[in-house]
Amino acid sequence: MKFFLDTANIEDIKKYAQWGIVDGVTTNPSLVAKEGVDFKTRIQEIAKIVDGPISAEVTEASADEMIAEGKEIARWHTNIFVKVPMTPAGLETVKALSKEGIETNVTLVFSVAQAVMAAKAGASFVSPFVGRVDDIAYDGIALIKDIVDVFQKYNFTTEVLSASIRHGKHVIDSMKVGADIATIPPHLFDSLVSHPLTTSGLASFAADWKKFQAK
Ligand code: G3P
Repeated sequence: MKFFLDTANIEDIKKYAQWGIVDGVTTNPSLVAKEGVDFKTRIQEIAKIVDGPISAEVTEASADEMIAEGKEIARWHTNIFVKVPMTPAGLETVKALSKEGIETNVTLVFSVAQAVMAAKAGASFVSPFVGRVDDIAYDGIALIKDIVDVFQKYNFTTEVLSASIRHGKHVIDSMKVGADIATIPPHLFDSLVSHPLTTSGLASFAADWKKFQAK
């Protein structure tokens, strides 16, 4: 499974990229707005830190405007994946951008039908929002599983990117059902990497070693 960071915060990206296990970064208009920085500049800064797919989302609504915006965004760096919303205009945009060899990530996906349509349009990634499905008392992981199963059944090459991750179990369960990628909020990296038995075990190793060295 590929682990992406879901943030536009450059300090968090620098911190967790150091671990050597970050395979890409996803952003969206809300995450970029939260940082209050120039969109292009921040995406290019991120691309210098993480050598992998960097998702940058179009903000226009019509197909013509999204296509033009997507082509401009794609020029910012070779690793850009243009993020496009799951709408009819978004499908038209993905079709046009993929014909020009531009990688795309279709976002705000909440059904198998939407995921299949995005794949048929030529999307590189589809991003089902697990957390937001759970938020309204439906089963986000079941959605991921259904999409993975249908993509395998019809040999779609589009990758399933589990998004809107709320906790570590979303990451684990996304793996168990076969998602290709999980895009993870930075703070969850700390909880995923640690375990109380690792912490206590290391402390006792150190204490025993210290006692032995003191003899
Ligand atoms: O990548 C999509 C993700 O950022 C959305 O997460 O927490 O706003 O549902 P959230």
